[in-house]
Amino acid sequence: MIDYEKAVARGVGSGGGAGARGWRSLLLLVALVASTAALYASFSSTLRVSAWFLVPPLSNSSPEEFVLLPSTCPTHPHTRPLLGRPLSASLSSAQVPVSTASPSLIAPSPSPAEGAYVPKAPPLVPDGPGFIPSPGFLPVSTVTPPSVAPVPRPRVGDDAMTDLQLIHAKKAIAGAPVVLHDPDLYAPLFLNVSVFKRSYKMMERILKVYIYEDGPKPLCHTPQLDGIYASEGWFMKLMEENTQFVVKDPNKAHLFYLPYSSRQLRTQLYVAGSRSMKPLSIFLRDYVNSISAKYPFWNRTRGADHFLVACHDWATYTTNLHEELRKNTIKVVCNADVSEGVFVRGKDVSLAETYVRTPNSPRKAIGGRPASRRSILAFFAGQMHGRVRPILLRHWRRRDRDMRIYEVLPDEIAAKMSYIEHMKSSKFCICPMGYEVNSPRIVEAIYYDCVPVIIADNFVLPFQEVLDWSAFSVVVAEKDIPSLKEILLGISGRRYVRMQTNVRRLRKHFLWNDKPVKYDLFHMILHSIWFNRLNHVHVR
Ligand SMILES: *[C@@H]1O[C@H](CO)[C@@H](O)[C@H](O)[C@H]1NC(C)=O
Ligand SMILES: *[C@@H]1O[C@H](CO)[C@@H](O)[C@H](O)[C@H]1NC(C)=O
Repeated sequence: MIDYEKAVARGVGSGGGAGARGWRSLLLLVALVASTAALYASFSSTLRVSAWFLVPPLSNSSPEEFVLLPSTCPTHPHTRPLLGRPLSASLSSAQVPVSTASPSLIAPSPSPAEGAYVPKAPPLVPDGPGFIPSPGFLPVSTVTPPSVAPVPRPRVGDDAMTDLQLIHAKKAIAGAPVVLHDPDLYAPLFLNVSVFKRSYKMMERILKVYIYEDGPKPLCHTPQLDGIYASEGWFMKLMEENTQFVVKDPNKAHLFYLPYSSRQLRTQLYVAGSRSMKPLSIFLRDYVNSISAKYPFWNRTRGADHFLVACHDWATYTTNLHEELRKNTIKVVCNADVSEGVFVRGKDVSLAETYVRTPNSPRKAIGGRPASRRSILAFFAGQMHGRVRPILLRHWRRRDRDMRIYEVLPDEIAAKMSYIEHMKSSKFCICPMGYEVNSPRIVEAIYYDCVPVIIADNFVLPFQEVLDWSAFSVVVAEKDIPSLKEILLGISGRRYVRMQTNVRRLRKHFLWNDKPVKYDLFHMILHSIWFNRLNHVHVR
């Protein structure tokens, strides 16, 4: 079993294997029953917690809570409308403030029943200690969320100042001077490097972020830095440590960060076996309601200048009980799937999923062979999650020496060449979606100098606002899996070398640093939030 699958089996992943690991599931189940019992005991005896949490998971749930989401989504032709579009074009089409956005910007809720989103992935055992609400934490209310009728309030004082600064920044970016050469930015990676450079500079000069101190630990303010959901943890840690962008005075802020962890929500609030995300949605609804009641900032834009950063597969679904959170807030999520009506391109941000094996050295073992020493054409190994991978396997498993397409990498092969060594020795690394569109393999491929081949219709790629993904990756539509080899062989040797060189140059934009450096992953994420916020600022 490769490391990735081990991690999944340990519980950081979004799905559990079946079949061969049946005995393991049994052990997990026993552990689960024991820990759930302990959890309830500790809660009911010492803490006043809201009623929903104490309700036994099965008996009181309505039948709707067991409705399963379809495991396959309708497929749409893969489109990349923002690619190649100059900023001015995307700005002019987005000059509606979110508050008065046309209904088409706001997609209909896919809710089968209120709060009843059900995982596409078989849920796993919660993997952490019990949730202990802090004293100031608001109990769960039954207040229904206000319907969204945002009315922009005339602004005075500091509000007006922060608005003017955003307008100034937006104008400055639209008139960006053309950059011909920049020692730190490799132009072919970007849609328009002049725009990116100018926007980044304006961010450094202007942007201030306020972080709410509210929220119980460990659901909030508790970054976890390892595993496949590490991106939300790293962002939280680096944002909370930051002094350049963070302000103590919320009146000076252009953006407001809701510092919760979607992974902790999953660990602490999901009732094992319930197949319902409702407790997670309820927590978020009440968290936002408490913030919007306590401070004036949320209501000012109905949440449009607020953002969350969440990498768990369920993160987009758990916003469903708060209309404004779901529709207006900038959601920075790994599961950037435009087909589900929750993630909105140009407003929300696709968060790069990074699988961090060793938090002390997140960049361990990066790098790979030069193009000339990559003997394998294409490589994939992994579990059969989701709709795409079984199709990939059906067409390519044991068909062709050039196409090394496996299920979990067989032991006898792994003994000769590890998963990572395969990535370092292949020309193309196939990154098919799992249960959800995103995959940690994309960033893994970038770390090991392998050109990623992305198969996930409707996926908005990370930093697609500014990066030209065609310069360093191949996007293959799901329907084209049968001609995968042909497509890859159609890429000339020269073009491949150029792409692989670009991957190497791209890498720094996808790296976590203990102390963030210019243009690294932390700053790229913050930039995308800033950039998308500007998309929705009205320039008179
Ligand atoms: C990049 O954007 C700037 C500013 O809008 C524009 O002047 C320039 O022509 C654009 N460059 C390319 C290559 O599109
Ligand atoms: C914000 O709006 C909500 C409902 O629209 C209201 O309950 C809340 O009190 C408002 N917050 C403030 C600080 O006025």
